[in-house]
Amino acid sequence: MSVLVSGGVGFIGSHTVVELLNAGYDVVVFDNFYNSKPCVIDRIKTITGKDFKFYNADMLNPAALDVIFEENDIDAVIHFAGYKAVGESVSQPLKYYHNNITGTLILLEKMAKHNVKTIVFSSSATVYGDPESVPMREDFPTSATNPYGQTKLMIEQILKDLTVSDAEWSASCLRYFNPIGAHKSGLIGEDPMGIPNNIMPRIQKVAAGEWDAITVYGTDYDTPDGTGVRDYIHVTDLAKAHIAALKRAKAVTGWETYNIGCGRGYSVYEIIDAYERASGTSINRVVTPRRPGDIAVSYADPTRAKEILGWEAELTLDDMCRDAYNFRIKNPRGYED
Ligand code: WQD
Repeated sequence: MSVLVSGGVGFIGSHTVVELLNAGYDVVVFDNFYNSKPCVIDRIKTITGKDFKFYNADMLNPAALDVIFEENDIDAVIHFAGYKAVGESVSQPLKYYHNNITGTLILLEKMAKHNVKTIVFSSSATVYGDPESVPMREDFPTSATNPYGQTKLMIEQILKDLTVSDAEWSASCLRYFNPIGAHKSGLIGEDPMGIPNNIMPRIQKVAAGEWDAITVYGTDYDTPDGTGVRDYIHVTDLAKAHIAALKRAKAVTGWETYNIGCGRGYSVYEIIDAYERASGTSINRVVTPRRPGDIAVSYADPTRAKEILGWEAELTLDDMCRDAYNFRIKNPRGYED
């Protein structure tokens, strides 16, 4: 019996495949390399000393998915594949709705056709929009402020409706907070395409001397130091949460959702300071106005994940920065093509 991982060569997908292999699962991966590099496949095998099947396939290709399900005894799916740039989703909504929603519908139709009815879905804390209070709990109201977040919310709803229509389905939606860091080996990590949007790869460009300064998007938030506060979580802790969620999804049926975060927030200045400690560099800061669409504070109440999945984050912000720096040092130009 194998676990099929869509987008398993990407940042979070690759770290999850490592943990699946370490936990003894048979793994099948498909990825279209839209936001990932082929070299990651061998690096996963080097890290784990284990092999797995890989298909260069797109979830928008029904025939390719049929081949994967026909050639392998798939028992469950962990679904990462999807576009994830918030800003791009605003300027190109149809691209996001087609890829993320249509692609997921095709994947789910193939799962049903081949009688695979267990899925762990890569959702996001962005489904909470701008919450009335923090920490965020899974029973908080959900809303989307951009097409990317809307696709996450829509897929959660599609999965919920599916579990209502057929009681054999088990769907677990993991609402990630802010994943950063890299595998401790430094062989895999975060290597975004083009100009990064998220703060950690942007900090790293400044620390590496590629950029002059990090832009601090607003210091007028109602937070201790005026900058935005987020729940940063080590990508390895996040990957391990998928193993816990998979075990739970195989044990029960129905629709569930879990916040996957550390349960505390750090400010922009705190994460910049932490990376200065990890890298031994001084990082220039330039204060700019707030970034449109940003919220002031976001951090998880991860109680459900701890009590039901038996999972909690273990690594600290300094661990996250240490491992992110180590990946950068070992891969100064990211993954080579
Ligand atoms: C973090 C903090 C910024 C860059 C996004 C997506 C979300 C999820 C995670 C996929 C904020 C500040 C940033 C910079 C800054 N992705 N910042 N200068 O916006 O919390 O979440 O990534 O699921 O859906 O929205 O992450 O890393 O962009 O920003 O001051 O150059 O850093 O204002 O407070 P965000 P981020």
